[in-house]
Amino acid sequence: MKPRVFSGVQPSGDLHIGNYLGALKNWVRMQSGYECIYCIVDLHAITLYQDPAELRAKIEEVAALFLAVGIDPAVSSIIVQSSVPAHAELAWMLTCVTPVGWLQRMTQFKAKAASQDTVGDGLLQYPVLMAADILLYQAHIVPVGEDQSQHLELTRDIAQRFNALYGDTFVMPETKLPEVGARVMGLDDPETKMSKSAPGVGHGVALLDPPDAIRKKIMRATTDSNPAVDFETMGPGVRNLINIFQAFTDWPDEQIRAHFSGLGYGQAKKQVAEMVIESLRPIQQRHREIVDEPGYLPGVLKQGAERVSPIANETVELVKKRMGLYSRS
Ligand code: TYM
Repeated sequence: MKPRVFSGVQPSGDLHIGNYLGALKNWVRMQSGYECIYCIVDLHAITLYQDPAELRAKIEEVAALFLAVGIDPAVSSIIVQSSVPAHAELAWMLTCVTPVGWLQRMTQFKAKAASQDTVGDGLLQYPVLMAADILLYQAHIVPVGEDQSQHLELTRDIAQRFNALYGDTFVMPETKLPEVGARVMGLDDPETKMSKSAPGVGHGVALLDPPDAIRKKIMRATTDSNPAVDFETMGPGVRNLINIFQAFTDWPDEQIRAHFSGLGYGQAKKQVAEMVIESLRPIQQRHREIVDEPGYLPGVLKQGAERVSPIANETVELVKKRMGLYSRS
Protein backbone atom coordinates (compact mmCIF):
# COMPACT_ATOMS: atom_id res chain seq x y z
CA MET A 1 0.00 0.00 0.00
CA LYS A 2 1.22 3.52 -0.84
CA PRO A 3 1.87 5.88 2.09
CA ARG A 4 -0.93 8.40 2.54
CA VAL A 5 -0.68 12.17 2.08
CA PHE A 6 -3.15 14.71 3.46
CA SER A 7 -3.21 18.48 3.15
CA GLY A 8 -5.69 21.35 3.03
CA VAL A 9 -6.34 24.95 2.06
CA GLN A 10 -8.81 27.41 3.58
CA PRO A 11 -11.40 28.75 1.13
CA SER A 12 -11.03 32.29 2.45
CA GLY A 13 -9.57 35.04 0.28
CA ASP A 14 -7.88 34.49 -3.07
CA LEU A 15 -5.37 31.67 -3.43
CA HIS A 16 -1.95 33.17 -4.21
CA ILE A 17 1.44 32.10 -5.48
CA GLY A 18 2.58 31.49 -1.88
CA ASN A 19 -0.13 28.81 -1.53
CA TYR A 20 0.91 27.35 -4.86
CA LEU A 21 4.67 27.31 -4.30
CA GLY A 22 4.45 26.40 -0.61
CA ALA A 23 1.87 23.63 -0.96
CA LEU A 24 -0.07 22.93 -4.15
CA LYS A 25 2.97 22.42 -6.38
CA ASN A 26 4.22 19.69 -4.03
CA TRP A 27 0.74 18.17 -3.89
CA VAL A 28 0.73 17.67 -7.63
CA ARG A 29 4.17 16.05 -7.56
CA MET A 30 3.29 13.68 -4.74
CA GLN A 31 0.39 12.11 -6.60
CA SER A 32 2.64 9.63 -8.37
CA GLY A 33 4.09 8.01 -5.24
CA TYR A 34 1.38 8.42 -2.61
CA GLU A 35 -2.32 8.02 -1.95
CA CYS A 36 -3.33 11.67 -1.72
CA ILE A 37 -6.28 13.39 -0.06
CA TYR A 38 -6.59 17.14 -0.61
CA CYS A 39 -9.13 19.07 1.37
CA ILE A 40 -10.93 22.41 1.19
CA VAL A 41 -11.13 23.22 4.88
CA ASP A 42 -14.32 25.26 5.10
CA LEU A 43 -14.80 24.49 8.83
CA HIS A 44 -11.45 26.18 9.43
CA ALA A 45 -12.48 29.19 7.35
CA ILE A 46 -15.47 29.91 9.63
CA THR A 47 -13.20 30.38 12.65
CA LEU A 48 -13.32 33.97 11.37
CA TYR A 49 -16.63 35.34 10.04
CA GLN A 50 -17.25 34.58 6.35
CA ASP A 51 -20.08 35.91 4.25
CA PRO A 52 -22.10 32.71 3.51
CA ALA A 53 -22.62 33.36 -0.22
CA GLU A 54 -18.96 34.29 -0.69
CA LEU A 55 -17.77 31.23 1.23
CA ARG A 56 -19.95 28.93 -0.88
CA ALA A 57 -18.51 30.43 -4.07
CA LYS A 58 -14.94 30.26 -2.75
CA ILE A 59 -15.24 26.55 -1.95
CA GLU A 60 -15.95 25.86 -5.61
CA GLU A 61 -13.28 28.27 -6.82
CA VAL A 62 -10.65 26.52 -4.70
CA ALA A 63 -11.81 23.08 -5.84
CA ALA A 64 -11.55 24.23 -9.46
CA LEU A 65 -8.05 25.56 -8.76
CA PHE A 66 -6.98 22.20 -7.27
CA LEU A 67 -7.95 20.61 -10.57
CA ALA A 68 -6.45 23.44 -12.64
CA VAL A 69 -2.98 23.12 -11.04
CA GLY A 70 -2.98 19.41 -11.86
CA ILE A 71 -4.60 17.42 -9.06
CA ASP A 72 -6.03 14.41 -10.88
CA PRO A 73 -9.34 13.29 -9.34
CA ALA A 74 -8.91 9.85 -10.88
CA VAL A 75 -5.94 9.16 -8.57
CA SER A 76 -6.32 11.68 -5.71
CA SER A 77 -9.36 12.50 -3.59
CA ILE A 78 -10.51 16.12 -3.46
CA ILE A 79 -12.89 16.71 -0.56
CA VAL A 80 -14.73 19.50 1.20
CA GLN A 81 -14.13 19.18 4.94
CA SER A 82 -17.74 19.85 6.00
CA SER A 83 -19.04 17.10 3.68
CA VAL A 84 -17.26 14.44 5.77
CA PRO A 85 -18.75 14.77 9.30
CA ALA A 86 -16.01 12.61 10.85
CA HIS A 87 -13.61 15.61 10.80
CA ALA A 88 -15.71 17.48 13.35
CA GLU A 89 -16.45 14.31 15.32
CA LEU A 90 -12.79 13.37 15.76
CA ALA A 91 -11.91 17.00 16.53
CA TRP A 92 -14.12 16.87 19.65
CA MET A 93 -12.48 13.69 20.91
CA LEU A 94 -9.02 15.19 20.36
CA THR A 95 -10.07 18.44 22.07
CA CYS A 96 -10.63 16.39 25.20
CA VAL A 97 -6.98 15.25 25.30
CA THR A 98 -5.48 18.66 24.41
CA PRO A 99 -4.27 20.97 27.20
CA VAL A 100 -5.54 24.50 26.61
CA GLY A 101 -2.03 25.88 27.24
CA TRP A 102 -0.76 24.13 24.09
CA LEU A 103 -3.35 26.00 22.05
CA GLN A 104 -2.78 29.37 23.67
CA ARG A 105 0.90 29.14 22.72
CA MET A 106 0.25 28.82 18.96
CA THR A 107 1.70 31.84 17.14
CA GLN A 108 -1.09 31.90 14.54
CA PHE A 109 -3.70 31.91 17.31
CA LYS A 110 -1.96 34.80 19.04
CA ALA A 111 -1.68 36.79 15.81
CA LYS A 112 -5.29 36.20 14.73
CA ALA A 113 -6.70 36.74 18.23
CA ALA A 114 -4.89 40.08 18.48
CA SER A 115 -6.85 41.42 15.50
CA GLN A 116 -10.31 40.46 16.90
CA ASP A 117 -12.59 42.30 19.33
CA THR A 118 -14.02 39.01 20.58
CA VAL A 119 -12.02 35.84 20.15
CA GLY A 120 -14.22 32.92 19.09
CA ASP A 121 -13.57 29.54 20.69
CA GLY A 122 -13.13 28.11 17.19
CA LEU A 123 -10.00 30.18 16.72
CA LEU A 124 -8.43 28.49 19.75
CA GLN A 125 -9.61 25.04 18.63
CA TYR A 126 -8.38 25.59 15.07
CA PRO A 127 -5.22 23.43 15.38
CA VAL A 128 -7.16 20.59 17.02
CA LEU A 129 -9.47 20.43 14.00
CA MET A 130 -6.36 20.45 11.83
CA ALA A 131 -4.92 17.54 13.83
CA ALA A 132 -8.23 15.72 13.33
CA ASP A 133 -8.06 16.28 9.54
CA ILE A 134 -4.67 14.60 9.40
CA LEU A 135 -5.08 11.85 12.01
CA LEU A 136 -8.50 10.87 10.65
CA TYR A 137 -6.79 9.46 7.56
CA GLN A 138 -3.71 8.12 9.38
CA ALA A 139 -1.69 10.32 6.99
CA HIS A 140 2.05 9.69 6.84
CA ILE A 141 3.05 12.93 5.12
CA VAL A 142 1.62 16.45 5.18
CA PRO A 143 2.94 18.79 2.47
CA VAL A 144 2.59 22.41 3.67
CA GLY A 145 4.33 25.78 3.72
CA GLU A 146 6.56 26.75 6.64
CA ASP A 147 3.83 28.68 8.47
CA GLN A 148 2.06 25.38 9.26
CA SER A 149 5.09 23.71 10.91
CA GLN A 150 4.04 24.61 14.44
CA HIS A 151 0.53 23.22 13.86
CA LEU A 152 2.07 19.99 12.57
CA GLU A 153 4.24 19.68 15.70
CA LEU A 154 1.11 20.12 17.79
CA THR A 155 -0.63 17.43 15.73
CA ARG A 156 2.16 15.00 16.62
CA ASP A 157 1.95 16.04 20.31
CA ILE A 158 -1.80 15.41 20.34
CA ALA A 159 -1.37 12.05 18.60
CA GLN A 160 1.34 11.04 21.06
CA ARG A 161 -0.74 12.04 24.04
CA PHE A 162 -3.74 10.12 22.74
CA ASN A 163 -1.60 7.05 22.02
CA ALA A 164 -0.07 7.23 25.52
CA LEU A 165 -3.50 7.51 27.21
CA TYR A 166 -5.51 5.04 25.13
CA GLY A 167 -3.01 2.79 23.36
CA ASP A 168 -1.40 2.94 19.96
CA THR A 169 -3.99 4.45 17.62
CA PHE A 170 -2.54 7.15 15.37
CA VAL A 171 0.22 7.22 12.78
CA MET A 172 2.76 10.03 13.44
CA PRO A 173 2.55 12.39 10.45
CA GLU A 174 5.66 14.00 8.96
CA THR A 175 5.85 17.59 7.74
CA LYS A 176 7.00 18.05 4.14
CA LEU A 177 8.20 21.52 3.13
CA PRO A 178 9.29 22.45 -0.39
CA GLU A 179 13.03 23.11 -0.87
CA VAL A 180 12.33 26.55 -2.32
CA GLY A 181 9.11 28.51 -1.77
CA ALA A 182 8.28 27.33 1.76
CA ARG A 183 7.80 30.97 2.80
CA VAL A 184 6.91 33.40 0.04
CA MET A 185 6.93 36.95 1.36
CA GLY A 186 4.61 39.89 0.60
CA LEU A 187 5.65 41.93 -2.44
CA ASP A 188 4.88 45.20 -0.67
CA ASP A 189 6.55 44.12 2.57
CA PRO A 190 9.16 41.36 2.31
CA GLU A 191 9.32 41.07 6.11
CA THR A 192 5.83 39.51 6.30
CA LYS A 193 4.63 36.34 4.59
CA MET A 194 2.31 36.61 1.61
CA SER A 195 -1.15 36.08 3.03
CA LYS A 196 -4.71 35.69 1.69
CA SER A 197 -6.07 38.02 4.33
CA ALA A 198 -3.47 40.80 4.09
CA PRO A 199 -4.92 44.00 2.71
CA GLY A 200 -3.17 45.99 -0.01
CA VAL A 201 -3.37 45.53 -3.78
CA GLY A 202 0.40 45.21 -4.13
CA HIS A 203 0.76 42.48 -1.49
CA GLY A 204 0.22 39.16 -3.23
CA VAL A 205 -0.18 37.66 -6.69
CA ALA A 206 -3.43 35.69 -6.86
CA LEU A 207 -3.45 32.57 -9.03
CA LEU A 208 -6.28 34.08 -11.07
CA ASP A 209 -4.79 37.58 -11.45
CA PRO A 210 -4.72 38.77 -15.09
CA PRO A 211 -1.25 39.29 -16.68
CA ASP A 212 -1.41 43.10 -16.43
CA ALA A 213 -2.11 43.01 -12.71
CA ILE A 214 0.74 40.53 -12.12
CA ARG A 215 3.17 42.68 -14.11
CA LYS A 216 2.18 45.81 -12.21
CA LYS A 217 2.48 44.19 -8.78
CA ILE A 218 5.88 42.65 -9.44
CA MET A 219 7.32 45.78 -11.09
CA ARG A 220 6.24 47.77 -8.01
CA ALA A 221 7.54 45.23 -5.47
CA THR A 222 9.60 46.67 -2.63
CA THR A 223 13.36 46.19 -3.14
CA ASP A 224 16.43 47.99 -1.75
CA SER A 225 18.71 50.79 -2.89
CA ASN A 226 21.22 48.59 -4.78
CA PRO A 227 21.16 49.18 -8.54
CA ALA A 228 21.61 45.56 -9.58
CA VAL A 229 21.39 41.99 -8.26
CA ASP A 230 24.27 41.09 -5.95
CA PHE A 231 23.79 37.75 -4.15
CA GLU A 232 26.11 38.80 -1.28
CA THR A 233 24.38 42.04 -0.33
CA MET A 234 20.80 41.83 -1.59
CA GLY A 235 17.89 42.66 0.70
CA PRO A 236 14.82 40.51 1.43
CA GLY A 237 12.67 42.04 -1.35
CA VAL A 238 14.96 41.02 -4.22
CA ARG A 239 15.69 37.70 -2.56
CA ASN A 240 11.96 37.01 -2.40
CA LEU A 241 11.47 37.78 -6.11
CA ILE A 242 14.36 35.52 -7.10
CA ASN A 243 13.04 32.77 -4.80
CA ILE A 244 9.68 33.02 -6.53
CA PHE A 245 11.39 32.65 -9.90
CA GLN A 246 13.40 29.65 -8.67
CA ALA A 247 10.39 27.96 -7.08
CA PHE A 248 8.44 28.21 -10.34
CA THR A 249 11.31 27.07 -12.59
CA ASP A 250 13.07 24.54 -10.31
CA TRP A 251 16.39 25.83 -11.63
CA PRO A 252 19.42 24.84 -9.52
CA ASP A 253 21.20 27.56 -7.45
CA GLU A 254 24.13 27.95 -9.88
CA GLN A 255 21.83 28.59 -12.81
CA ILE A 256 19.84 31.14 -10.81
CA ARG A 257 23.03 32.94 -9.78
CA ALA A 258 24.41 32.99 -13.30
CA HIS A 259 21.12 34.26 -14.67
CA PHE A 260 20.47 37.07 -12.19
CA SER A 261 23.94 38.24 -11.05
CA GLY A 262 24.54 41.84 -12.12
CA LEU A 263 21.07 42.25 -13.66
CA GLY A 264 19.48 45.68 -13.02
CA TYR A 265 16.44 45.52 -10.75
CA GLY A 266 14.09 46.67 -13.52
CA GLN A 267 15.25 43.86 -15.80
CA ALA A 268 15.21 41.29 -13.00
CA LYS A 269 11.63 42.20 -12.07
CA LYS A 270 10.56 41.97 -15.69
CA GLN A 271 12.00 38.45 -15.92
CA VAL A 272 10.21 37.38 -12.75
CA ALA A 273 6.92 38.93 -13.89
CA GLU A 274 6.96 37.27 -17.32
CA MET A 275 7.87 33.91 -15.82
CA VAL A 276 5.03 34.08 -13.27
CA ILE A 277 2.58 35.12 -16.01
CA GLU A 278 3.63 32.25 -18.27
CA SER A 279 3.52 29.72 -15.41
CA LEU A 280 0.01 30.78 -14.39
CA ARG A 281 -1.37 30.99 -17.94
CA PRO A 282 -2.14 27.23 -18.34
CA ILE A 283 -3.58 27.08 -14.81
CA GLN A 284 -5.93 29.99 -15.55
CA GLN A 285 -6.92 28.47 -18.88
CA ARG A 286 -7.74 25.11 -17.28
CA HIS A 287 -9.63 26.90 -14.48
CA ARG A 288 -11.88 28.58 -17.08
CA GLU A 289 -12.54 25.24 -18.77
CA ILE A 290 -13.50 23.58 -15.49
CA VAL A 291 -15.82 26.40 -14.48
CA ASP A 292 -17.47 26.21 -17.93
CA GLU A 293 -18.23 22.50 -17.53
CA PRO A 294 -21.44 22.32 -15.48
CA GLY A 295 -21.77 19.34 -13.19
CA TYR A 296 -18.13 18.30 -13.36
CA LEU A 297 -16.97 19.88 -10.11
CA PRO A 298 -19.84 18.64 -7.88
CA GLY A 299 -19.19 15.16 -9.28
CA VAL A 300 -15.51 15.33 -8.33
CA LEU A 301 -16.32 16.48 -4.79
CA LYS A 302 -19.00 13.81 -4.33
CA GLN A 303 -16.67 11.09 -5.56
CA GLY A 304 -13.91 12.37 -3.22
CA ALA A 305 -16.19 12.30 -0.16
CA GLU A 306 -17.45 8.81 -1.03
CA ARG A 307 -13.93 7.49 -1.49
CA VAL A 308 -12.51 8.80 1.80
CA SER A 309 -15.53 8.29 4.08
CA PRO A 310 -14.83 4.60 4.81
CA ILE A 311 -11.26 5.48 5.97
CA ALA A 312 -12.57 8.34 8.12
CA ASN A 313 -15.36 6.25 9.65
CA GLU A 314 -12.98 3.42 10.45
CA THR A 315 -10.73 5.79 12.42
CA VAL A 316 -13.66 7.31 14.31
CA GLU A 317 -14.90 3.82 15.23
CA LEU A 318 -11.41 2.86 16.43
CA VAL A 319 -11.10 6.03 18.52
CA LYS A 320 -14.54 5.48 20.04
CA LYS A 321 -13.62 1.94 20.94
CA ARG A 322 -10.32 3.04 22.48
CA MET A 323 -12.04 5.75 24.55
CA GLY A 324 -14.95 3.55 25.66
CA LEU A 325 -17.55 5.56 23.76
CA TYR A 326 -20.70 3.97 22.40
CA SER A 327 -20.39 2.52 18.96
CA ARG A 328 -23.15 1.04 16.81
CA SER A 329 -20.97 -1.65 15.32
P1 TYM B 1 -3.78 28.13 4.32
O1 TYM B 1 -5.11 28.07 3.65
O2 TYM B 1 -3.42 29.37 5.07
O3 TYM B 1 -2.63 27.88 3.28
C1 TYM B 1 -2.64 26.77 2.42
C2 TYM B 1 -1.22 26.26 2.21
O4 TYM B 1 -0.40 27.30 1.67
C3 TYM B 1 0.76 27.48 2.48
N1 TYM B 1 1.12 28.91 2.47
C4 TYM B 1 2.30 29.40 2.09
N2 TYM B 1 3.42 28.78 1.65
C5 TYM B 1 4.48 29.57 1.33
N3 TYM B 1 4.47 30.93 1.44
C6 TYM B 1 3.37 31.59 1.88
N4 TYM B 1 3.35 32.90 1.97
C7 TYM B 1 2.21 30.80 2.23
N5 TYM B 1 0.99 31.11 2.70
C8 TYM B 1 0.33 29.94 2.84
C9 TYM B 1 0.37 27.01 3.84
O5 TYM B 1 1.50 26.63 4.60
C10 TYM B 1 -0.54 25.84 3.52
O6 TYM B 1 0.22 24.68 3.28
N6 TYM B 1 -4.29 25.52 8.52
C11 TYM B 1 -4.09 25.39 7.10
C12 TYM B 1 -5.13 24.53 6.41
C13 TYM B 1 -5.29 23.15 6.96
C14 TYM B 1 -4.41 22.06 6.81
C15 TYM B 1 -5.02 20.96 7.45
C16 TYM B 1 -3.17 21.93 6.19
C17 TYM B 1 -6.37 22.70 7.67
N7 TYM B 1 -6.20 21.39 7.95
C18 TYM B 1 -4.41 19.70 7.52
C19 TYM B 1 -2.56 20.66 6.24
C20 TYM B 1 -3.18 19.58 6.89
C21 TYM B 1 -4.14 26.77 6.47
O7 TYM B 1 -4.71 27.68 6.99
O8 TYM B 1 -3.59 26.86 5.25
